[in-house]
Amino acid sequence: MTPSLASLRPHWFVACTAAAVGARPLPRTILGVPIVLFRAAGKIAALIDRCPHRNAALSQGRVTGDLIECPYHGWAFDAGGVCRRIPGLPAACEHPHQAAEAVRVAEREGLVWVWVGKNEATPEAFPPNRHVALGDLRFDTFLWAATAQCALLDGVENLLDACHPHFAHAGLVRRAQKRRTVGVNVRRDAEGVEAIYQENARPDGLIPRLMEGRRQTSIGRFFPPGTAQLEYTGPAGPQFLLTSMFTPCDERTVLIHSCISTPRKMAPAWLKKSVLRAVFGRVLRQDQDVLRRQQENIDRFGGAKFTSTPLDVMRPHLLYFINHPEKADRSDYATTLTMEL
Ligand code: FES
Ligand SMILES: [Fe+2]
Repeated sequence: MTPSLASLRPHWFVACTAAAVGARPLPRTILGVPIVLFRAAGKIAALIDRCPHRNAALSQGRVTGDLIECPYHGWAFDAGGVCRRIPGLPAACEHPHQAAEAVRVAEREGLVWVWVGKNEATPEAFPPNRHVALGDLRFDTFLWAATAQCALLDGVENLLDACHPHFAHAGLVRRAQKRRTVGVNVRRDAEGVEAIYQENARPDGLIPRLMEGRRQTSIGRFFPPGTAQLEYTGPAGPQFLLTSMFTPCDERTVLIHSCISTPRKMAPAWLKKSVLRAVFGRVLRQDQDVLRRQQENIDRFGGAKFTSTPLDVMRPHLLYFINHPEKADRSDYATTLTMEL
């Protein structure tokens, strides 16, 4: 079972980075809802991407001053969707009934979050910052935006899945020939689920060899509805922290906005960022490829028909959160298992 896009609408999701909203309107589809983002008086605004006059896409228009102007007849709307100008009508006219639909929007730490649930629905509390290294001077942190052609759950599962790197990223992240027995502690509460892999070894993939010394634990976390986190910890604390916020655009496309942190060392941040971009760009392309092919094959059969083992640690919990959307209905859970990693 995958969550319907409509059921996810009453949640905050990341639409883009703040830096992506420039002088031109930025179209996005969030949970099947086409929206347009633009800047008005320096602040980011979001409207449903449909002009109320003849339904042209506002995103194909332009931003003039603090207004977004429709490309068809030039109606212009402010950040709240109020129509401020209808060319040809006397300037003094008010146009309260010609409003475009506003979308709730919030800018936090370089990311733009939107709420495409019905406007009358009360927004949930703004999601807490799950990336603990944001603003922590002991870490270099940067943002990364990507897309993948897959369903939300398959994308989240891919990020948190410990058993695919041996094949999908063979040599780069892990090696299939060199497995070790590892204990795994899984713990779930109303906020999310985490799996702690007790690795206690020097990783043998090329990337972790370059970046880390001895790895004590690798931790995968999921916070519903769409945040996944990886943390690799050495004797001195976190060596690598990745928090990815997944946003479904439609049933087959997800936006992935990631915060990536590594401990501050000798290398300047810009150099580290370009090395990490090159290295993780390769891993990301491999994951994008495997996810797209998985989705294409699922579609060839008209739907998914999965089978799992205890190695698929996260999937049952991802499904649990879908089936228990209310925090009050969720129960705590903990278990341990061993696997060859
Ligand atoms: S369709 Fe937008 S102004 Fe006419
Ligand atoms: Fe991967």
